[in-house]
Amino acid sequence: MNSFKDSRLAVVRLSDDEHEVIILDQTRLPGHEEYLRISDEERAWTAIKRLEIRGAPAIGVFAGYAMYVLAQRYADKPYPEFLAEFRRQAEYLNSSRPTAVNLSWALRRQTRLVEAHEGCTGSEIVKLLGEEAHKIDAENEEMTRKIAEYGVSLIKDGDGILTHCNAGYLACLGYGTATAPIYYGAEQGMTLHVYSDETRPLLQGARLTSFELQKAGIDVTLICDNMASIVMKQGRINAVFVGCDRIAANGDFANKIGTSGVAILAKYYGIPFYTLGPSSTIDFDTPTGADIHIEQRDPDEVRSMWYREPMALPDVKCYNPSFDVTDHSLLSGIVTERGIVTAPFEENLRKLFQK
Ligand code: MRU
Repeated sequence: MNSFKDSRLAVVRLSDDEHEVIILDQTRLPGHEEYLRISDEERAWTAIKRLEIRGAPAIGVFAGYAMYVLAQRYADKPYPEFLAEFRRQAEYLNSSRPTAVNLSWALRRQTRLVEAHEGCTGSEIVKLLGEEAHKIDAENEEMTRKIAEYGVSLIKDGDGILTHCNAGYLACLGYGTATAPIYYGAEQGMTLHVYSDETRPLLQGARLTSFELQKAGIDVTLICDNMASIVMKQGRINAVFVGCDRIAANGDFANKIGTSGVAILAKYYGIPFYTLGPSSTIDFDTPTGADIHIEQRDPDEVRSMWYREPMALPDVKCYNPSFDVTDHSLLSGIVTERGIVTAPFEENLRKLFQK
């Protein structure tokens, strides 16, 4: 049987000379394993926008490395100009996708580091940015391992688990988040049966989740989004695990469009529903889900993107919100690297993360 660790592809890394960020082009999976080399700001912005790199934590790690690579270009500038250029580029990259908080979180972390080193040369700061980018990556990897350890306590051998979109290693690196207990459980000898929603319109469940789970030797069954109800009713699902792009202070969270519908179904059938994510996804500055900015994407993703022929008239009106917000009342718990947070979410999130 394949082991998870052997099956993993490198999602984001630096080139040997550290002048480029190399990413796995996720728009080409599952048919093609192709890598892109990124070394300028427009290409970095487009890579996020087009979802060549995607998933909240992976975007954050990419942003950390991208700022390091970009800053090498103006390392000879005096500090005030270096800082101004750094801030401008961070703001520009931050405009690529609005919903996942990990992007702005990583950009802020790198910007604060530059702000804290007034008086240093550009080259000294660039070196620190490289170290910080590696730290963000390593910390994220470690967080997914801890999420795996906490999350595995929620399942037992033989369980069926439903997941939506892709919150596996392709989106989050390490063990992934929603997949973390699944991979970790399999490493401990559990047999688990995963149902992966295909996740219209961009098919992350079909193209990415079923790809990575199957490559790792996990039993995975791909279903259309509208089949979630029947597999729940048939008793095949013991728990739902999904990722998150931003968790508001009250526990409401944004995740891929369709997640809140799955949560409502799970509640109806009495199935525990968990979101799993690192603390970099929690945003205490966003009080509730109503305050989360939902990205709207190109209507052609719905009309024609994955078809040989368009499946709708070219000018038919489409509504294509990329994410929805799941109300905290539908959540059984939030699995983080520090433990599993249960209701009352606002109070318990603050207790765990804002000591
Ligand atoms: O638009 P995507 O593919 O970046 O959306 C990804 C998701 O919604 C994931 O479930 C989410 O990022 C949480 S897991 C990292």
